[in-house]
Amino acid sequence: MKRIGILTAGGDTPALNATIYGAVEQANALGINVFGLLRGYAGLLSNNVPHVHLNPLFTSIPELDPCLGGTLIGSSRTYIDPDSDQIEVVKQSLVRLKLDGLICIGGDGTINGMQPIAEFTQCVLAPKTIDNDLGLNYLDEPNEWVRRPTDDDDDGVEDIQVRSRDRMNLEDIINYATPGYATAVFVVAQCVRRLRTTAESHRRIGIVEVMGRQSGYIALGAAYGQPDLILIPEVPVDFDLLEQRVRQIYDMQHHVLIVVGEGAKTADGHDLGAATPTYDPAGNIRYSGAADALRKILQDRIEPEFFDRARTHEPATAAYFTRKVGHTQRGGRPILFDRFHASQLGGKAVRLLVNGENNAVATLQYSPANGFDVSSISANKLRNQWGEIHPRCVHPSMYDDHRMQASEFGEEYLKPIFTNAIGWDDIEFLRAELFSSGNLSTPYQSVNTDVSKRVRYL
Ligand code: F6P
Repeated sequence: MKRIGILTAGGDTPALNATIYGAVEQANALGINVFGLLRGYAGLLSNNVPHVHLNPLFTSIPELDPCLGGTLIGSSRTYIDPDSDQIEVVKQSLVRLKLDGLICIGGDGTINGMQPIAEFTQCVLAPKTIDNDLGLNYLDEPNEWVRRPTDDDDDGVEDIQVRSRDRMNLEDIINYATPGYATAVFVVAQCVRRLRTTAESHRRIGIVEVMGRQSGYIALGAAYGQPDLILIPEVPVDFDLLEQRVRQIYDMQHHVLIVVGEGAKTADGHDLGAATPTYDPAGNIRYSGAADALRKILQDRIEPEFFDRARTHEPATAAYFTRKVGHTQRGGRPILFDRFHASQLGGKAVRLLVNGENNAVATLQYSPANGFDVSSISANKLRNQWGEIHPRCVHPSMYDDHRMQASEFGEEYLKPIFTNAIGWDDIEFLRAELFSSGNLSTPYQSVNTDVSKRVRYL
């Protein structure tokens, strides 16, 4: 293995550069050249295949900074259609680049893009996604999916997960946490705390919407910000119970703070926040506003007079506010947990290639006795019997649907990730850098500008 390519696909996360860094440092030690392919799979489809040599003379280029969020080689949601002539274009690009192997950094969509390439070039995946949905709660989870006819879907069938276990073990989790997740929760927990004081001061009901698509891990992690109620997509919202809890909490503390995962569902399986569903290029649903939908439902159920005592002379409509944490969850400097484990996973991906693995995924494993370690799994083990990869969802044992909070086991799951997730340097960086007077006079220096000077074309 002399020359490998690396690309980042899908939505960015704060830990992508850290993964690339880990891969390049490992390659330096093994005397392997690493070429960054620009803008994910899109770069391989363009005729001139823009790329960057990331370790000339086996030294990482200075722009490759593991503390910098985003990806210095760019990302896109372009995926490869295996049934089109795109695959031949990709094949030719990889041959012209003389690559012996390819590392794709991404989530489930990226694995699907990688699968057809693995037919002719050795490929491995280093995981990333703030949604924390790449992996399995236990090895046989893909076998829990059954297919049944439906009128709702274009192809007339839908996949349903029929859970075979009501308990699970932390050691059995395949890919305990994905790089990017910890930083996203770090942002969300702080956001919840900041919104809390506004809700508290103005006696309002604050509804905070967090990302994660169908998976509620970010919402679950928001527990660190101590919201009053957490709604996750995996458990349909019980509106009667929600109304009752909101009334009780408001009566007691004159405000309520609710966290809702963007993919939250109603009891009949409809997405709360996707009245008219739209899709991104990878076929993922775009959520338009679970928090707003929830606000309307609560407004319809709770009579305006309910707020009279606590909010005299103010309209009941103003008693609610909604906020999407949005892309701040995906951006900025990664915290220590993400930086360290992302780098480890990048290094592992290189070793997988060197060891001759193909279509494999580097994973982060945890055991209470030994802590975290990197390992790997065949990508096919993540697929169900129809070859599909479903996003990993929060297991029912991690959530208490009556309290609308993380369950005791959910807390056990979160602790190993977050207890020491923030490094001293993360705090020191903030202290020293944010209000540095130089920021006032120096324009932002984009890594794109520096990297573009290193870009070569075929
Ligand atoms: O998959 C990562 C993610 O951030 C989701 O949580 C979110 O729904 C989606 O990407 C947003 O995508 P985009 O940046 O394309 O709006």
